[in-house]
Amino acid sequence: MDFDDQEKTPTELRDVRPSSFSHVIGQDHVKQALQIAVDAGFQEGKRLDEVLLCGPPGLGKTALVQVLADECCVPFTEVLAQSITNAAELNSALLSSSEGILFLDEIHLLHPTQQHALLIVLDKRRIFLSGGKSVQSIPVAPFTLIGATTDPDGLISPLVDRFKMVLHLDYYSHDELGKIVQQRCLALHWEYEPELLAEIAQRGRQTPRIALRLLGAARRVAVAAGENRIEVRHLLHACQIERISSRGLDNFQQKYIRLLRPASQRLNVLASMIGVSTKVVTATIEPFLLRSGLVVKSDNGLRQLSQSGREHLSEIESETA
Ligand SMILES: Nc1ncnc2c1ncn2[C@@H]1O[C@H](COP(=O)(O)OP(=O)(O)OP(=O)(O)O)[C@@H](O)[C@H]1O
Ligand SMILES: [Mg+2]
Repeated sequence: MDFDDQEKTPTELRDVRPSSFSHVIGQDHVKQALQIAVDAGFQEGKRLDEVLLCGPPGLGKTALVQVLADECCVPFTEVLAQSITNAAELNSALLSSSEGILFLDEIHLLHPTQQHALLIVLDKRRIFLSGGKSVQSIPVAPFTLIGATTDPDGLISPLVDRFKMVLHLDYYSHDELGKIVQQRCLALHWEYEPELLAEIAQRGRQTPRIALRLLGAARRVAVAAGENRIEVRHLLHACQIERISSRGLDNFQQKYIRLLRPASQRLNVLASMIGVSTKVVTATIEPFLLRSGLVVKSDNGLRQLSQSGREHLSEIESETA
């Protein structure tokens, strides 16, 4: 594990991150593909091939790209695609990138016009600036573009085609989430009750960022109580305060399954009853409920509570009664 600020003793969850593929838990197919790319680059003395990492938020895309840069020992420039709103900003990002990795995070947020412009730069390795009647062309450093996206459909297909590798991250098993939480506790020298790992994993919705957030919440409760060891009771207290269920459902997800108790519902009805857009429902509220089988979707789009969904709802209501 690496400490983000070498001067500072790590005390916060964000102070540490994986620094080699061996520290990245799970995602074996992605790690293997990246390791092969790194080794092939070294063998042939060539720069790394372009990689696009795809997957829902919090699964470790950014963490994997940082590890990749560490493993390649090359300079690393990170740019958030939403910060690029016009041609001048894109050119400045491309020109400021040195030889090494240029990481465009959330690359689907680049406007299609900038995506086309990026394509041309990747093909020609030059930037074209038009001023009056003349066009000036400036070479760019031989960087490798690495992209990360939660929404590959938001990318124009010729840009996707320029990535030699397109890798999709998987959700994590309980066991893997437990290991990630344990790894973070060990790196930060945080003492924990062994049962805490499984309890967090059960509520982590198969996502490291959620599991680590729960670890942080449990630790806050322990620290506030003046205790050194993070215990299951601290986690349960934190979940009670934040109204997180024993399967990790947040307030919105609990509201959603409650609305389905009397009868199946359509997406637009659910969205208006919860008070959010249908996009928020499909992108953030529903995926875990469908994946875990608590809710099922019929062929005609109706959302229905499953038997396990009904049981979990009863459990939530008995906890809050
Ligand atoms: N496989 C893993 N092993 C160890 N730590 C991990 C792993 N995956 C993610 N993490 C940690 O989980 C947290 C979230 O990961 P990260 O920020 O890389 O997710 P992301 O996919 O980039 O999310 P977003 O799409 O929201 O930007 C970070 O603290 C990261 O270090
Ligand atoms: Mg990220």
